[in-house]
Amino acid sequence: MRSHYCGHIDPSLVGRTISVAGWVHRRRDHGGVIFVDLRDREGLLQVVFDPSDDAEIFEMAEGLRSEYVIRVSGKVRPRPEGTVNPNMPTGAVELQASELEVLSPADTPPFHHDEQASEELRLRYRYLDLRREDMQQNLRLRHRVTRALRRFLDEEGFVDVETPMLTRSTPEGARDYLVPSRTYPGRFFSLPQSPQLFKQLLMISGLDRYYQIVRCFRDEDLRADRQPEFTQLDIETSFMDEGQITALMERMIREIFREVMEVELPDPFPRLTYAEAVSRFGTDRPDLRNPMELAEVADLVTGVEFKVFAGPAADPEGRVAAMRVPGGAELSRKVIDDYTGFVGRYGAGGLAYVKVNDPAAGREGLQSPILKFLPDDTVAALMERTGAAAGDLVFFGADKAKVVNDSLGALRDRVAADLGLIEDAWRPAWVVDFPMFEKDEDAGRWVALHHPFTAPRIDDPQALAADPGHAISRAYDMVLNGSEIGGGSIRIHTREMQNAAFRLLDIGEEEAQEKFGFLLDALRYGAPPHGGIAFGLDRLVMLMTGADSIRDVIAFPKTQTASCPLTNAPGEVDEQQLREVGIRLRRKPAEEG
Ligand code: AMO
Ligand code: AMP
Repeated sequence: MRSHYCGHIDPSLVGRTISVAGWVHRRRDHGGVIFVDLRDREGLLQVVFDPSDDAEIFEMAEGLRSEYVIRVSGKVRPRPEGTVNPNMPTGAVELQASELEVLSPADTPPFHHDEQASEELRLRYRYLDLRREDMQQNLRLRHRVTRALRRFLDEEGFVDVETPMLTRSTPEGARDYLVPSRTYPGRFFSLPQSPQLFKQLLMISGLDRYYQIVRCFRDEDLRADRQPEFTQLDIETSFMDEGQITALMERMIREIFREVMEVELPDPFPRLTYAEAVSRFGTDRPDLRNPMELAEVADLVTGVEFKVFAGPAADPEGRVAAMRVPGGAELSRKVIDDYTGFVGRYGAGGLAYVKVNDPAAGREGLQSPILKFLPDDTVAALMERTGAAAGDLVFFGADKAKVVNDSLGALRDRVAADLGLIEDAWRPAWVVDFPMFEKDEDAGRWVALHHPFTAPRIDDPQALAADPGHAISRAYDMVLNGSEIGGGSIRIHTREMQNAAFRLLDIGEEEAQEKFGFLLDALRYGAPPHGGIAFGLDRLVMLMTGADSIRDVIAFPKTQTASCPLTNAPGEVDEQQLREVGIRLRRKPAEEG
């Protein structure tokens, strides 16, 4: 139907007769001549319909509207002097139409490409939204990423194996999506939260190196970088330790960035322990482009009369931390009040601060509502510890450690973004040495920081059980510019240790057998030491494209409330279908009681 893509026409084709096909991007009438910007996936081409060339075609062109699909043939010619458009790759030429065929007319679209349409509208008419240049670029970049990943992994001997979608629960910390079984009424499949257990079984099968680009399903609270169904690059290897796995994986990520983005990432990636990351940045996924850090100051305020500081400083679960904001002395009262409200969302009871006008002048050079509660030497020591200079501001957080970490960690990102302190760079890092377990205070029991199959540093199940609170796991996360793009670990490969981990997690023997019996059985038959990782492909591509939302790198995503405005999923099903799977709906909650 066509000889060329619109976006490929350049001066080398001048004088040639060509055919192009695509969508009417814009139609303009100019002094008796009609100009159509014709669009295909490669770009735009200006087509000229001139009545003095061909009156019949000109008349047809008058009927063209936005988004009509047409085919045009004609001669490529240079644009007249003064009408060259340097902003358009094809801006030096135009097509003088001699044939026109309307392949498909179009209703007026609900929004035009250049318009800021609401997300609801964009998702409802996703096929139109995807016509936009930036969306097409995102999908094509995603394709280049998966192509490069597959090539790398193939060269390294990884085998692509598919694992089931209709399966049992694979715990990764979210709720399952359930699928009722017709053949076993009252029983359900779960959609996988990840292929975790299957990839471990593949290692027991002797596959040695596995990968899969695979959909995962998690019913959890959604955020800008989360989707209920998302894609992982999932990897597992045998007979490799964490040093070898992380080295291989960062080599892969470096290669992808080089190939797709022409970006050189650092070699090697810096490594932070979990404890160091939380202490310096308040989070285990720090944005290293941000120059600000938290400083520990509890030791300086233990005995002071100011209870806001002294209390948490004396509490073993408390933390008192300071964060220096370069140039922050200029922040207005109103902005500081806003930040105080912001940290309140993370449970902080307040946000103490000191503005530094002249650090050499002692108390006189500082401005703060809390100075009056602190002795001179404490003030001096705080200023010294934070390295505050003239023009800076220092924020303080004092509370349970979790509250201080969450609130100052979030404030650190917020303030740096507001003040333009984020460096324009790619800053990957590994975070390692995670605790095995953390206490779920509400339930009063241990939960796995990664998943229950992650191996501890110690080999002895009894030693693990004796002191779970201090056990360090063999897990590693890859962090890039403040986003957790991947996480993995060396796995437990003995039945004894796996049972010990289940017991600590309050998974009884019967429950373990019922839910994970197949894994425990498999561990009897010669399980190699193994480990792996999974990358969030959507997140990785989101970072690479600079998109604000994970939805901009997924062709057909769900909304923030986990629905699809395009297909109207989830939908209702009829009585017959329900009966077949043995389900009767309870009255809607609103009608109850
Ligand atoms: P984890 O749960 O850390 O590990 O997931 C791996 C990576 O997947 C991405 N991710 C998500 N992306 C979008 N939407 C979501 N809802 C979502 N949840 C997670 C993140 C994360 O780093 N089986 C283990 C991996 C392993 O141990 O090998 C797992 O699934 O980028
Ligand atoms: P108050 O005594 O509660 O009025 O607080 C005195 C100062 O300490 C104010 O500037 C508060 O914003 C600040 N503040 C109160 N609670 C905290 C906290 N948990 N962490 C840091 N600063 C706080």
